[in-house]
Amino acid sequence: MGIDDILLYDETVFKNIDAFNPDYIPENFLHRESQMESLAICLRPALRGGRPVNTVVLGSPATGKTTAIKKIFSMVERNSDRVVCVYVNCQLHTTRFNIFSQIYNKIFGHMPPETGVPFSRIYGNIMKHLRDEGKALVVALDDVNYLFHSKNANKIFYDILRAHEEFNGVKTGIFAILSDIEFRYMLDKNVNSVFIPHEVIFDPYTTEEMVSILKERIKAGFFPDVISDELLEEIAERSSEAGDLRVGIDLLRVSGNFAEADASKTIEEKHVQEALKSTGSVSLKSTLKTLSDNEKLLLEIITESEEDNLVAGDLYKAFTKKTSSSYASFDRTLNKLEFLRLVDTKFTGKGVKGNSRIVILRFNPEEMVKCMKNI
Ligand SMILES: Nc1ncnc2c1ncn2[C@@H]1O[C@H](COP(=O)(O)OP(=O)(O)O)[C@@H](O)[C@H]1O
Ligand SMILES: [Mg+2]
Repeated sequence: MGIDDILLYDETVFKNIDAFNPDYIPENFLHRESQMESLAICLRPALRGGRPVNTVVLGSPATGKTTAIKKIFSMVERNSDRVVCVYVNCQLHTTRFNIFSQIYNKIFGHMPPETGVPFSRIYGNIMKHLRDEGKALVVALDDVNYLFHSKNANKIFYDILRAHEEFNGVKTGIFAILSDIEFRYMLDKNVNSVFIPHEVIFDPYTTEEMVSILKERIKAGFFPDVISDELLEEIAERSSEAGDLRVGIDLLRVSGNFAEADASKTIEEKHVQEALKSTGSVSLKSTLKTLSDNEKLLLEIITESEEDNLVAGDLYKAFTKKTSSSYASFDRTLNKLEFLRLVDTKFTGKGVKGNSRIVILRFNPEEMVKCMKNI
């Protein structure tokens, strides 16, 4: 087809292309019943005039954490007007003023003035409103690790959780959401004494779970029979290898685009191959961007190692030479890389206590080097 034909071609494989957008909320939220139940249990007291249970939501990227919070909040709002649920994306809002502006906006329907009003007045207006109306407040701080980068976390947690000390009877709670496992170490002692959260874990999806989720997405986004079960399996496989459901959703969208550009009413193997070529390292790069300097360094050492059976003890020696880190801190860093599904570790049953581990990179070293260079 010529360029004009591509632009004007009016047949489409997409019934609803928005179904492949990152902020699409799926109607059927599969395999997350137990997590949704846990979140509901934490919110329940607030619906009955009590205080919500503070919660930490943990899980690697694309395990449905954001979706779960948005779904449960909209269910609460449908069922009760006793709870104000505020969702805050901490990648976008990192200052105390910004975050309380979001809360203010949710309560009063407009943003507070940007200048001329002291923070304490905005804060006071929010808390007085909650007290007078007898409503509880739950603030979901999504990707809360960004608050730790900017060092604002302690103050914000403190402001929210200790509101009742100044405003009698106010009931507040925090849902902190993050793709990390070191949350506990990040808060000050005096915040830790009021924030003793319940944990809700979002474990990674298995390949079969990914197949069923992608199948639902295909139903929502494509016309019937656009893509075969074999190609779906292939895409789910790729998604599972990357440990990231988003890879699969992106592959569906991009394959659909290639099929259209080819004037095809169905997605064929060659369209999936083209999509694979064009999306390959996007998700890996976005994970690498979130790593700290030490995590990057450890990953670099693993990537550069030519050892087939890289033993954790040897890796520690190389790591501490460059960082002077303790073994405990090395261990945490390695666990983080495993948690993000960048590496696998396996116990060998050997070593002094029979607990020596080998470390395996989950990606092709060349691809890893290329992605690390470009972040
Ligand atoms: N169980 C599920 N069913 C359907 N879609 C899902 C499911 N879990 C995740 N998704 C989809 O995967 C993508 C990532 O989910 P998201 O909630 O943003 O994950 P996280 O916040 O854990 O990174 C979104 O497009 C979301 O719609
Ligand atoms: Mg998220």
